[in-house]
Amino acid sequence: MISRRSVLATPLALAACDRFAQAGTAPPATEATPLKDVIPCPFGATANSAQLEDAAFVTAMLRHVDQVTPEWELKMERTLQAGFGTDFSAADRVVDWARDQDLAVHGHTLIWYSQGAEVFHDDLDRRTFTREFDRYVRETAGRYCGRMRGWDVVNEPVAEDGEGLRDCHWSRVLGVEGYIVRAFELAREADPDAVLFLNEYNLENIPAKGATFLKLVEKLKGMGAPIDGIGTQSHLNIEIPAGRISGFIRDAASLGLPIHVSELDFPRTRDGGGMPDLRTPAQKTAQQVARVGELAEAYFALPERQRYGLTTWGLRDPDSWLLRPEHKNWADDHPLLLDVEGRANPAYQAVVDAATGRAGS
Ligand code: XIL
Repeated sequence: MISRRSVLATPLALAACDRFAQAGTAPPATEATPLKDVIPCPFGATANSAQLEDAAFVTAMLRHVDQVTPEWELKMERTLQAGFGTDFSAADRVVDWARDQDLAVHGHTLIWYSQGAEVFHDDLDRRTFTREFDRYVRETAGRYCGRMRGWDVVNEPVAEDGEGLRDCHWSRVLGVEGYIVRAFELAREADPDAVLFLNEYNLENIPAKGATFLKLVEKLKGMGAPIDGIGTQSHLNIEIPAGRISGFIRDAASLGLPIHVSELDFPRTRDGGGMPDLRTPAQKTAQQVARVGELAEAYFALPERQRYGLTTWGLRDPDSWLLRPEHKNWADDHPLLLDVEGRANPAYQAVVDAATGRAGS
């Protein structure tokens, strides 16, 4: 029996399937089911101080997430002052808000190659450099002791192309692995119960980088670094071949550690490369659905103890750093699971299908 409702609904449902292919014809779809109810592990998203002033953002976060990653308030660019002073006022704003909402917090990030060099500058004597490095990690991790579910202790240690490790102000003074081991030991001492992660990007997109990273984790653990978990940022290139994502998750899982999908987004816009982008909106949507579905299926298939959490870098499309003028300025992109109204983007259904085992049916 085909009811009037189901006949009417079918075209509307099809139209809603790909809002991006037929802009302007989307029906008033409803708000998506809370992601924390859909995803079989803690679901997180980033928040920054400005977003916490936006009631619609706060409402969406409280509807969808179990966990928050401060987008930049816990980075040296915001906490470290000239002369090694510290200012945690912005970090406290986000961490206190999360605590008041009974949300877990994931700290990002204690030591990162791309920050701190203006204070930890090259003509600093080694003794001062080392003393202040230790002090910063101890003070920052210690300040939030007992309030951080986990920390990205070191962010992005591997060279861009995956060939070896990054050269940076930390490695030049403390050694290419030395600074990493030191940071993890200090973080463990400062917050013994936090889950400590080594975090990196392009691990799925560039298999050589993923392999280098996993070898590094094993080497560092052999050196005594108390690394508890693997953070894969998963800023996905949706044009990569099928299999790279599931291959990396499989290889990462073989280390037996908790894995955090720590910064998931999946932009439609091609990032450089110089080639004209001839893909249709429907082809871009199909790529997003395929790659996010591959990630979700591989990740949800892990044992529960290895599913630390899935975090998107932004909650709704307009929350994404990729849309901002100071970053990629991809103003009309849809790189996340929810649109501006909190409606499900097509990749959302891929996550639901993976979570409910309907994928591939
Ligand atoms: C980005 C933030 O989203 C921006 O607000 C900030 O200006 C720059 O950093 N990988 C990371 C994150 O580990 O810290 C970056 O976050 C995105 C890439």
